[in-house]
Amino acid sequence: MLTALAIILSYLVGSISFSYEIGKQLRKLDIREHGSGNAGATNTLRVMGIGPAIVVLLLDAGKGIGAVFLGFYLSGGSPVIAATSGLAAILGHNWPVYYGFRGGKGVATTIGVLATLVIFPALIAGAVAIGAIIFTRYVSLGSLIFMIGTTLITAIFYNYFEYPFYYVYFLIFITLLSIWRHRLNIERLLSKTESKLGEKAQAKQ
Ligand code: G3P
Repeated sequence: MLTALAIILSYLVGSISFSYEIGKQLRKLDIREHGSGNAGATNTLRVMGIGPAIVVLLLDAGKGIGAVFLGFYLSGGSPVIAATSGLAAILGHNWPVYYGFRGGKGVATTIGVLATLVIFPALIAGAVAIGAIIFTRYVSLGSLIFMIGTTLITAIFYNYFEYPFYYVYFLIFITLLSIWRHRLNIERLLSKTESKLGEKAQAKQ
């Protein structure tokens, strides 16, 4: 019962779109109609600037952190329920019940989930991803490197870090989900039409 509550609450909190709310409050705009059309921190940076983008990044990541802790707490310490609550928050972010199921790509919320569940792999992959973003100025490429890198490092070193093997399946699933959410970014990266940091977006989503 408490387990189901953790998962449902995580989805409902994950569904709060901070980029949408801050866009509405600050600029009276729907972030999903501007820039790349994505309800996330990167598009907030593009459309509203660095301050709102940092706020969105922290709040969206906070949803992931909160969901994992809620899952742990309400299940009495089950890593499976903690990860499932994290997944529920990511699903809420991507398909939010309050906004017609049109949300973001789940990157910041996933950062929060992974930083809570698998901090060391996430830190190493995060450092590589930040390097890739600085070097290429493609945030979507950095996001994908972060997801794939965290999954690979966890899969190879789960024994060393004493993580349950279930986390590897969980990470493969959320990485595939993220790749699918970024499918248009991937097409644009391959055709060299993806917008770089500091540039206007070329296309929606
Ligand atoms: O935050 C998601 C990022 O990986 C890509 O966002 O707006 O460039 O599609 P965007």
